[in-house]
Amino acid sequence: MTAPGATGLAPKSPLLSVRNLVKEFTLKSQAGEFGKRVLRAVDDVSFDLAPGEVLGLVGESGCGKSTTARCILRLVEPTSGEVIYKGENLVGKSHTEMRRLRKELQMVFQDPYSSLHPRRRIRHTIAEPMIVQGMNQKEALARVPELMQTVQLDPRRADAYPHEFSGGQRQRIGIARALSVHPEVLVLDEPLSALDMSVQADIINLLQGLQQQFQLAFVFISHNLSVVRYLADEVGVMYLGQIVEIGTAEEVLAAPAHPYTKALSSAAPVHRAAAASTRAAGWRRTSAACSRPRSSSGAMVTQSPATSLRKR
Ligand SMILES: Nc1ncnc2c1ncn2[C@@H]1O[C@H](COP(=O)(O)OP(=O)(O)O)[C@@H](O)[C@H]1O
Ligand SMILES: [Mg+2]
Repeated sequence: MTAPGATGLAPKSPLLSVRNLVKEFTLKSQAGEFGKRVLRAVDDVSFDLAPGEVLGLVGESGCGKSTTARCILRLVEPTSGEVIYKGENLVGKSHTEMRRLRKELQMVFQDPYSSLHPRRRIRHTIAEPMIVQGMNQKEALARVPELMQTVQLDPRRADAYPHEFSGGQRQRIGIARALSVHPEVLVLDEPLSALDMSVQADIINLLQGLQQQFQLAFVFISHNLSVVRYLADEVGVMYLGQIVEIGTAEEVLAAPAHPYTKALSSAAPVHRAAAASTRAAGWRRTSAACSRPRSSSGAMVTQSPATSLRKR
């Protein structure tokens, strides 16, 4: 399946529908230029996400993945388009309405350290979204041990600070915090890329378990096709701000239509048959190249060595 857009790809009726999303950034003019330059970071992106479904968004650095994620949650304002959640268009909602809706749509960030308050005990960090949603502080703090157990953290460490945890543990704190308000959708923006390889495998397994346990819908963003293929029901391939291909992982990878997808899948390390036969197993490390970063001038550069994962 190759056509991006509002084609109703999801088998169930969508929980979240992104329609013709556009985000333009106005850049300062450089020396010798007149007027302002406009960068179209997200260029007419549309997709559907069904309840309990995992949509992987994959693409090279700078192709607009994070901006798409941020637009969905209105952490940046879309220039145009719609983000329809359970029939309500999030674009144009007031801050108060968005606060209510953030209970249902939560985000997990790439760098767990910078997304956690360094001088706040993690007990308070994990409780914060519940308090923002109106739960009294005592009740919210009382739920923290259970949430820590859910992400396999020792609840006895609730009074520690972020710097006292490892990278993987900090990402677990970020996940516990996001889960605290019982969201239906998690938008995960490269949640593995700041982590060591061995830790990435643990976090993937944790996320997969939580997704199934709580029937969460994920928008799972990564530049690593192997990870996306492992977790996602559907894969959207982004290139220069657009979704150039979308469909089930098998469809997209069996017959990649866009040159970028072809390059991406030929660089991915996992043989499909091998991957399919090992669905339930854990992960282990392998090395491969599957991202093509662009230089600051925007020109494509040759593939850089990147590490990726595959199923045991
Ligand atoms: N606040 C911003 N101001 C100007 N340009 C931005 C801003 N945020 C992102 N961009 C640009 O938008 C493009 C897409 O960025 P991003 O969404 O972060 O890509 P990705 O997450 O796929 O790496 C990039 O060219 C980036 O430099
Ligand atoms: Mg990004």
